[in-house]
Amino acid sequence: MAGLATGAAVTSVSSQSVGKDVYLRANRPIGPGTSGPILDIMTKHISDRLAPFGESIFSTMSRLAVEYKAINLGQGFPDFDGPNFVKEAAKRAIEEGFGQYSRAFGLPETNRAIARSVALTAGFSADPDREVTVTAGCTEAVAATLLGLLNPGDEVVIVDPSYDSYAACVAMSGGISRRVRLEGPDFRITDALLRPAFSTRTRAILFNSPHNPTGRMFDDDEAGVVARLAKEFDALVLSDEVYDQITYARPHRSIASLDGMRERTIVLGSLGKTFSFTGWKIGWAVAPESITRAIRGAHQFLTFCAPTPLQRAAAEALNTICEDDRYLIDLRRDYSDRRAFMLETLEGVGFRCIHPEGSYFILADALGAGFSDDVTAAKSLVKAGIATIPASAFYDQDNPDRRWLRFAFCKREETMREARRRLNAQPLSLLAKSAH
Ligand SMILES: Cc1ncc(COP(=O)(O)O)c(C=O)c1O
Repeated sequence: MAGLATGAAVTSVSSQSVGKDVYLRANRPIGPGTSGPILDIMTKHISDRLAPFGESIFSTMSRLAVEYKAINLGQGFPDFDGPNFVKEAAKRAIEEGFGQYSRAFGLPETNRAIARSVALTAGFSADPDREVTVTAGCTEAVAATLLGLLNPGDEVVIVDPSYDSYAACVAMSGGISRRVRLEGPDFRITDALLRPAFSTRTRAILFNSPHNPTGRMFDDDEAGVVARLAKEFDALVLSDEVYDQITYARPHRSIASLDGMRERTIVLGSLGKTFSFTGWKIGWAVAPESITRAIRGAHQFLTFCAPTPLQRAAAEALNTICEDDRYLIDLRRDYSDRRAFMLETLEGVGFRCIHPEGSYFILADALGAGFSDDVTAAKSLVKAGIATIPASAFYDQDNPDRRWLRFAFCKREETMREARRRLNAQPLSLLAKSAH
């Protein structure tokens, strides 16, 4: 019953059972053999708020990747290190004694550097001391914002497929998710789709562009739909822009830069994606002062402050890209090459793919390749040595789209070459046939 894993329970799982019962949401088993007493034991301490979420699919797939010695194209972290100049800055900060708590909402120089980079990427000026909060990754920024803003029963619109922490954080905050489902392969936002989810109870919408997992960069028409509805229903926009620098189609444009949106938008960002240091967990929330006060109200009791020496290094990293765009040019060129290589690999073996406009993810059509659904495809591929994420994990579990597999291409060339070799080793149609 590996998929139920919480804490020590994982160690008692027999290896035969791993891989069978993988894709679980507690109380909502997906796949065979996952109900009954073991499920009850494993979930009995989880609060009602969190019970529907179970173990994150990312942990599950990473564990399976190890189990099957698979190449991990599942979880979205680079298998290469970030730039030396940022590492050196962190080392220096440690050597220089920046080892204690910092100001709760961020080291002054870090807040300044974030405001500076937001001025360039999101196109508005923010007061570093009143409008910027440094957090433990964007994940904490989302949590602190929702915990700081929501009252019980407040509704939050979530656009599916969505990053898995959104709905969990709404639930932890006592809010109610109103989930809207975008339809592939276009995944376009329209007024007709979003409007029914809005009401007088709507407090906020979570908007993510460039988008994980589809790779969409929502255009001005689509952002305009969100902006109009937010204004009409007096809702806030949590704009998750962690992939703002990883773009192929055109430069990122923040929804905060649209007319009248600055005062109702919280821009959420992360050092992890742009600088390939996902484990550093430095993120931020940038919002008007009154909203920032609410965010900080929660942040002070969640983490109090982000790691001080890494904040120092983050300041140096962000100041550098504000002064010199060579790092970003190289980053985009490298990701464009990886994107092309992975598309060629996947399309070469017969997957129909969504070509991402931004982010480092590709969705591939599992049904089109002959699999019965994304979970079956992911199970089959992990056994063949390639770990992916079944994109149904990004949907409301009552209403998943079971078509898509997500491949992460934030990987070294040799990793991607080995992935290509393994994918080429057996025809996809055979894998699909044997998976039934
Ligand atoms: C859309 C999105 N938001 C937020 C995060 C988390 O960012 P961080 O690592 O800074 O917490 C991720 C990470 O994959 C993501 O894809």
